[in-house]
Amino acid sequence: MRVRIELGPRSYDIHIGVDILPGLGQAVRRAGLGRRALIVADGNVANTHAPLAASSLHAAGVSAHLVVIPPGEATKSLASAERLYDACLDCGVDRASFIVALGGGVAGDLAGFVAATYMRGVAWVQVPTTLLAQIDASVGGKVAVDHPRGKNLIGAFHQPRLVWCDIRTLDTLPLPDLAAGMAEAVKHGILGDARYYSFVRRRQAELLGRDPRALTRLVTGSCRIKAAVVSGDEREELGLGAAGPAVGTPLHGPRMPGGGATPRSRMVLNLGHTLGNNMEAVAGYGVLRHGEAVAIGLVAAGQLALMHGLWSRRWQAELEATLAGLGLPTRIPGLALADLVAAMCTDKKAAGGTARWILPVRPGAVAVHSDVTEAEISSVLTRMGAEG
Ligand SMILES: NC(=O)c1ccc[n+]([C@@H]2O[C@H](COP(=O)([O-])OP(=O)(O)OC[C@H]3O[C@@H](n4cnc5c(N)ncnc54)[C@H](O)[C@@H]3O)[C@@H](O)[C@H]2O)c1
Repeated sequence: MRVRIELGPRSYDIHIGVDILPGLGQAVRRAGLGRRALIVADGNVANTHAPLAASSLHAAGVSAHLVVIPPGEATKSLASAERLYDACLDCGVDRASFIVALGGGVAGDLAGFVAATYMRGVAWVQVPTTLLAQIDASVGGKVAVDHPRGKNLIGAFHQPRLVWCDIRTLDTLPLPDLAAGMAEAVKHGILGDARYYSFVRRRQAELLGRDPRALTRLVTGSCRIKAAVVSGDEREELGLGAAGPAVGTPLHGPRMPGGGATPRSRMVLNLGHTLGNNMEAVAGYGVLRHGEAVAIGLVAAGQLALMHGLWSRRWQAELEATLAGLGLPTRIPGLALADLVAAMCTDKKAAGGTARWILPVRPGAVAVHSDVTEAEISSVLTRMGAEG
């Protein structure tokens, strides 16, 4: 399967298939990339999938050096980026070379950040090996490292030249990491495609059982939804004007894969992330998986939408049952309400004083709301288990 990200001169293809890793080398040659590469591989895939990726590149005449980074969110730092700049220099990476990110969202965000900044930008290729990276992190060109004061605070937009998703790499992924990726799939369904959401809800057993056909459909469906959003708002500029969109503005125009409307702003992808990202920071990076935090954030967004009369109890119950069925948390695990509220206030300042919540209005559609009060947030967080 192939999903095209249409971004004018920065357009590229996401290839999705089973056992396609051996074809990586030929694909990078077809994409016109150079003959020298640095593979940045997560430590958990260094012995399983990196050898196949490297041999495929070598067979295609690409001289590829492998650098292994420690697994985990703590690696997404400026210090790690500096070590990778050293590796680039040691291996003679120049502007005609390219970087390959092999691993989950951490490897992708970090290697992509290095590609965006080393020698003012070099080409890069993503070979995502977690579900979360295949359906979300490798689509759209956002690259970043974390700052002690916030997640993804140092970053850039730098589109890869190619994304190569081998569904087979998910066979070695621990179940909780597979489940974490499902949270982003649920998010995509709710924000843009009711039919896709229904597929995720009905096929949980096959998805968790790693049925290759079901996973291929999942990854392709999510990539199509995210591609449609990103193609319309590459740098998340729509809806971020001084006034921002009016309260309750539906964020949709025409043309979504499932026949629905395309979200007009990349902001919609923040569904479940307003609380999710802050919870990750408050818990300490690496304590909660990103997808687990997003799952809890989706429940909170649904609860707020219920409070505002936008969303029905039945849809909320369906959402919570789906997340639980996928093995995802739906309650806040032992975090203090005051810490969460304080983190969200910092976020609000960063957003120019107005926190904009993306809230579901029905399966397949969301709206932006900047009229969510601190009291409403506290009430929802308390009900969801935040400690008072
Ligand atoms: N750039 C974006 O648009 C975007 C979007 C969403 C999330 N993200 C970022 O992505 C990160 C989360 O990504 P993630 O969930 O993939 O986390 P991750 O990269 O930490 O991977 C999760 C775990 O799986 C291991 N792993 C990876 N592939 C494996 C495989 N095939 N077999 C066995 N183990 C494997 C990793 O070593 C790690 O322990 C966060 O930093 C988040 O901010 C970025």
